[in-house]
Amino acid sequence: MSKNTFAENQRRHPLDDDARVWLFGYGSLIYLVDFPHLDSRPASIRNWSRRFWQGSHDHRGTEADPGRVVTLIEDEGAVCGGIAYRVEAAVFEQLDVREKNGYLRFATEMTFDDGSHATGLVYIATPDNEAYLGEASEYEIARHICRAEGPSGSNRDYLLDLARALRELGQHDQHVFDIETHILEILNR
Ligand code: SIN
Repeated sequence: MSKNTFAENQRRHPLDDDARVWLFGYGSLIYLVDFPHLDSRPASIRNWSRRFWQGSHDHRGTEADPGRVVTLIEDEGAVCGGIAYRVEAAVFEQLDVREKNGYLRFATEMTFDDGSHATGLVYIATPDNEAYLGEASEYEIARHICRAEGPSGSNRDYLLDLARALRELGQHDQHVFDIETHILEILNR
């Protein structure tokens, strides 16, 4: 699959112009909210885990030197916390550009903090996209993140901003927090 998924996303999820859709954000969409939305609520999705296994060529790295950003990995029984945004269909023009480096929109069931549910969309970068980097130890990921930088800023800030936002949400994510610990140790050397 091409690493530019913009056209594929526009094709696979045609939305009525007046549609209002829930979007589940679990990475930078939690803390970098540069798109209009009608509502936002803490939410979670089941059977997925957040992992820094996706390459970033256009935001936190370059084609020659990709950064590492999050995607979701199927994980039976896991719960991934994030934020759900209620957005108008037109907003996906902008979001599909932002998430074009390998992410596809998938339908998902989400649970809000009050226990109610809704169906919505989530961007996932699957292992068959060209920018996918895959598994590495948290230490290796931390070393990689410390080196990478792209048009949207340092890869380190992506990780640290996400860790801070998860803490503010009351979400514990061992993978993210372990990488954060390694990064802070590397920076303090
Ligand atoms: C998301 O935040 O939901 C997708 C991944 C990202 O943009 O960091």
